[in-house]
Amino acid sequence: MSPSHCVLVTGGAGYIGSHTVLQLLLTGYKTVVIDNFDNSCQIAVNRVQELAGDRAVNLIFHQIDIRDKAELKKLFASTKFDAVIHFAGLKAVGESVQKPLMYYDNNVVGTLTLLEVMEAHGCKKIVFSSSATVYGWPKVLPCTEDFPLSAASPYGRTKLMVEDIFRDIYASDSGWKMIMLRYFNPVGAHPSGYIGEDPLGSPNNLMPFIQQVAVGKLPALKVFGTDYSTKDGTGVRDYIHVSDLANGHLAALRKLSDPEIGCEAYNLGTGKGTSVLEMVAAFEKVSGKKIPLVISGRRPGDAEVVYASTAKAERDLNWKAENGIEEMCRDQWNWASKNPYGYQSK
Ligand code: NAD
Ligand code: UD1
Repeated sequence: MSPSHCVLVTGGAGYIGSHTVLQLLLTGYKTVVIDNFDNSCQIAVNRVQELAGDRAVNLIFHQIDIRDKAELKKLFASTKFDAVIHFAGLKAVGESVQKPLMYYDNNVVGTLTLLEVMEAHGCKKIVFSSSATVYGWPKVLPCTEDFPLSAASPYGRTKLMVEDIFRDIYASDSGWKMIMLRYFNPVGAHPSGYIGEDPLGSPNNLMPFIQQVAVGKLPALKVFGTDYSTKDGTGVRDYIHVSDLANGHLAALRKLSDPEIGCEAYNLGTGKGTSVLEMVAAFEKVSGKKIPLVISGRRPGDAEVVYASTAKAERDLNWKAENGIEEMCRDQWNWASKNPYGYQSK
């Protein structure tokens, strides 16, 4: 895949999508973004355009739901896509437990619809947003791509189902080239502070929570469990800067041109584990803000320690995360302090 190619990005107005679209544009790809704005907004797309400067001419946006087959067919009939990067989906674990039908419909039916239209138009190259959640509660660390897979929530099952669908499609037709990227914990923002994560409603994940405490929207961070067998008793995760994650997608796109590639999963993480308290300390250091803590019990369903083996991605994709925790916190704070109310900030 070379920069003159045209890539369709589903969910490209979202957190990881917007950062990836910017990298695609800056690298020279023609990029068509579709999003239904379920968890994003037009301003994010406008800001990507501004950051892309002259390259913004290569960005086309359509407000389309991936489950709308008629609209997808029209799009594929009018444009020849060399590959698809598929981010569109719902991602709140707790909500998926409350509303499983909504999650299966959006994440599984939506993906099936996309794959059907791709196949009908002879576009058989796709990069998919999977998740470290498919490793369940890992018994051995670091997580390697050949670990047994499991899921602890309807959200996790949608990721696992889509991965299985990919493997079945490839088994039936080796003309497909399919890369499943298993993200660990994406955090941070573009260094400009102009695009970042803007979750609608109350945050679920650690970093958006810390951010909202730092800007005074929430009084304190609840620490879910201090009795784990970890360095300080709090949960350990593999946080990865969203810019590194975006670059991982460009590496995956390039890999789709490798005649040897079939259907493969790759971890995108740093290979390093960081505890909740270490993350808080790093954020306090760069922001100069005190994050008040409330010690709570363990969150049901939480794993103790999760971090990636990065060996396969380094070897096959020639990709490695470059940013550490300090850069992640610095860029998160830069985004948060410039946009305390996300994209709705004045
Ligand atoms: P996000 O919510 O910011 O982005 C997803 C985008 O998809 C949003 O802009 C949303 O409006 C759009 N969308 C949702 N349903 C759609 C539909 N039916 N049609 C068209 N657009 C639709 O989330 P994100 O953090 O950028 O995540 C992107 C992908 O990565 C998701 O599939 C998510 O499950 C996966 N993922 C995210 C994380 C994480 O922690 N952020 C971790 C692992 C995997
Ligand atoms: C969550 C999702 C997982 C998804 C992953 C990637 C759940 C149960 N799992 O996992 O499916 O793939 O994000 O984004 O939601 N923490 C606190 N206080 C908080 C929030 C979190 O102490 O307010 C702790 C957690 O207990 C955990 C760590 O911070 O130890 C990270 O939590 P979180 O950001 O929610 O990510 P994951 O638990 O990895």
